[in-house]
Amino acid sequence: MLKMAVLVSGGGTNLQAIMDALDAGTITNAQISVVISNHAEAYALERAKNYGVEALLLSPKDFYTREEFNQALLKALLERDVDLVVLAGYLVVVPPCVIDAFENRIINIHPSLIPSFCGKGCYGLHVHEKALARGVKVSGATVHFVDEGTDTGPILLQKPVEVKQGDTPETLQKRIMKEAEWKILPKAIDLIANGKVSVSGRTVTIEES
Ligand code: GRF
Repeated sequence: MLKMAVLVSGGGTNLQAIMDALDAGTITNAQISVVISNHAEAYALERAKNYGVEALLLSPKDFYTREEFNQALLKALLERDVDLVVLAGYLVVVPPCVIDAFENRIINIHPSLIPSFCGKGCYGLHVHEKALARGVKVSGATVHFVDEGTDTGPILLQKPVEVKQGDTPETLQKRIMKEAEWKILPKAIDLIANGKVSVSGRTVTIEES
C-alpha cells in the first residue's frame, strides 16, 4: 500500500479529487497518510479532517529559520514513512533536502502544458493570464516529477484543454481543473501505486495495462 503525503496551500480541490478517486476505487493500492498545509486557513485542511486523515500545519513563518522549517518538513515525511509526496497546489518551494530524500517520489500538478507557461512566478492565475495573453487555442495540465528546478522534472501525464473565445483567467482555470487536473492527478497516483511508472533521466515510461 503506497503511503502518500499530500501538500497543499489552498482550497484543495485536487486533494478532494484524490480522496474521491480513493473512495471510488479508481486509485487502488494507495492511502493518504497526512495532508500538510503551510496555511492555517487553507480549506484543504478541513477537507482532510472531514475525510478522517491527519491534517498538519507546517508553516515557514512558525520557524526561526528556513532551514529549521525544511528539516521539520523532511522529518514529518520520514516519520510517517511516506512513499510518495503529492504537491496539490502547494505554494512553498520544496527544499533540496526533501527532493534528495524523495528522488522521483514527488509529483506536482501544474495547470498548463509544460514547457509552456511554467517556471518561476508562473503559478495560480498567472499561468492562465499568460496563456490568454499569448493567444493559445489549447492549454491543459501536466503531472510531473519534481526535481531541483521549477517545473523542470520528468513529465508523467499531460491533458490538453480547449481555450474558448471570451475566456478569462478564471474561466480557463476552472475548465482546466475540471477537465484535466482532477483527472490526471488521481490517474498518475494510481499508475505509481500499481508499479506502472518508471523514470529514466527525463523520460517517463508507463506500462500498458
Ligand atoms: C491548481 O490549479 C493547481 O494546478 C495549482 O494550484 C491550484 C490548486 O487548486 N498548482 P486546489 O487547491 O487543488 O483547489
